[in-house]
Amino acid sequence: MLHTELTEQLGIRFPIVGAPMAGVAHGRLARAVTEGGGLGMIGVGSTDGIDLIGREAVVASDQGRLPFGIGLMAWALERRPELLEMAIAAKPALVSVSFGSTAAYVQPLRDAGIVVVAQVQDLPSATAAAEAGVDYVVAQGTEAGGHTGKVGTLPLLQLLLDGFDLPVLAAGGIATPRGVAAVLAAGAAGAWVGTCLLASPEAASRPEARAVVLAATETDTVLTRVFDIAQGIPWPEGFAGRALRNRFSDTWEHREAELAVDEAAAALLAAAKTDGDYDAAFIYAGQAVGSLHQERGAAEVITELGEATEAWLLKRLAELSRVRTTQ
Ligand SMILES: Cc1cc2nc3c(=O)[nH]c(=O)nc-3n(C[C@H](O)[C@H](O)[C@H](O)COP(=O)(O)O)c2cc1C
Repeated sequence: MLHTELTEQLGIRFPIVGAPMAGVAHGRLARAVTEGGGLGMIGVGSTDGIDLIGREAVVASDQGRLPFGIGLMAWALERRPELLEMAIAAKPALVSVSFGSTAAYVQPLRDAGIVVVAQVQDLPSATAAAEAGVDYVVAQGTEAGGHTGKVGTLPLLQLLLDGFDLPVLAAGGIATPRGVAAVLAAGAAGAWVGTCLLASPEAASRPEARAVVLAATETDTVLTRVFDIAQGIPWPEGFAGRALRNRFSDTWEHREAELAVDEAAAALLAAAKTDGDYDAAFIYAGQAVGSLHQERGAAEVITELGEATEAWLLKRLAELSRVRTTQ
């Protein structure tokens, strides 16, 4: 069995968290991940309606039967503090507050008995989260889908495992049993996976988007601000989003200042989002997208990932420790 601080604390079968993904990981996906043996999370975007959290929490928890998590963005909470109140009221087992300072939010969450987590992208953000008193930090590497930093998962994970007493989860580029095994063997308390769930029908994305995801390879992503700029979403400096490259990103990459004042480009992106035209509309996805080959239910993805990781770790450790009898 794969026991870590995370499985013990949350009472889950596998040390695997289904990442919060705004617009994609709502109640249905979160519930399927938890039913598969992990912890499913609801992603809350900066512009999501106030009623989304309560509504999706009912689905994620299956009316209060299952544990689940909620992922918030620190910079969005500064503008919309009511999102924190809604999250606490929804009674999640775990809340992540990422992309900005977590300090103001740890105590209210703790007081409500909620496990507090921050995704971090470098040593300064990890230090700030540790000082704020979070229960876990998530080393989020640049391979990750969605908004992230510039340091790779392995360099960041090693720094955090060596540098902090806190349990560390690993995110970014983990999509197969070998990946989960690698981070657990390194000392992580669990894997935080998003991209490997993008081809699951429980995701809140459109079927057309899932087809584009399945056709993409590991070299098809770009870390870009163009989609945020064209939508006027005020992400703080230092965070770009890893998305599938498309005609819109190819056109505007390195022309960000021009894009910021181009109303036609903003209108084109808005229309493409409505129409599901993924030549222009964005699909956030990480480099692990190359490991997705078929549409599969999220519970099955997580159960297979957990079971195969256990089998793989045992087999590999036996291989590595076998005494060589022949030279
Ligand atoms: C489509 C998508 C949306 C995301 N939205 C959020 C979000 O709302 N909040 C958040 O904290 N992280 C978000 N992330 C980042 C994930 O929490 C996580 O770090 C990432 O998916 C892990 O790397 P992987 O995609 O390689 O598995 C998102 C990722 C994706 C792919």
